[in-house]
Amino acid sequence: MSEQPTGRVGLIWIQTLNGVIGAHGDMPWHLPEDLKFFRETTMGHPVIMGRVTWDSIPEQFRPFSGRTSIVVTRDHELAESLNAPTVHGVTSVEEAFGVAQASPGAEEIWVIGGGNIYAQTIDQADVAKITIIRDEQITGDTYAPELDENWKLVRTTPEAERDSDAGWLQSRTGLRYRIERWEKSC
Ligand SMILES: NC(=O)c1ccc[n+]([C@@H]2O[C@H](COP(=O)([O-])OP(=O)(O)OC[C@H]3O[C@@H](n4cnc5c(N)ncnc54)[C@H](OP(=O)(O)O)[C@@H]3O)[C@@H](O)[C@H]2O)c1
Repeated sequence: MSEQPTGRVGLIWIQTLNGVIGAHGDMPWHLPEDLKFFRETTMGHPVIMGRVTWDSIPEQFRPFSGRTSIVVTRDHELAESLNAPTVHGVTSVEEAFGVAQASPGAEEIWVIGGGNIYAQTIDQADVAKITIIRDEQITGDTYAPELDENWKLVRTTPEAERDSDAGWLQSRTGLRYRIERWEKSC
């Protein structure tokens, strides 16, 4: 494990009630409101992602504008080829944090997936922004990381008890969702 970055490290993801975050290399839903939330949260800060997540982003949207994208891969050739002012390929999670630390907006570093990379970075994170889709039917093959007892739910948008039936937003797509902010207490 690398040294703790000096900036705040956040994880951001969207999941179903069952914890599904992906299927077949993509996300099995479209929630434009969450894309907006993602953009607002990460704008101006470095974002770290796994190679599978990078591959899932349509070419016209990558690298993201206004953010340094850091792509983790074990493929050294690919890492070397991802080398532009706003995108860097790296071959380890430790290197990813090092590059993020040296990037604009490093007071906040956002890990944006996928499941593999969340699992390897959750120990270094102190905040998680999680969009929950109120659905138990959507199936997938990639899951959100477990938040252990050190993590506390500090806010939901809209405000509601976690298991309450109330307090869900309605997407223009028809999906019901809400956004949770979790913080690690130690
Ligand atoms: N719902 C959400 O918020 C959300 C967010 C992001 C992604 N997703 C979904 O999650 C899925 C992808 O997640 P995933 O877990 O399959 O893959 P991933 O975490 O995006 O990427 C995994 C890849 O990262 C590289 N990697 C992982 N650990 C490494 C290490 N320690 N050192 C060097 N390279 C390393 C490897 O790339 P190489 O194979 O190139 O070596 C590995 O195959 C997709 O379905 C995507 O749509 C969902």
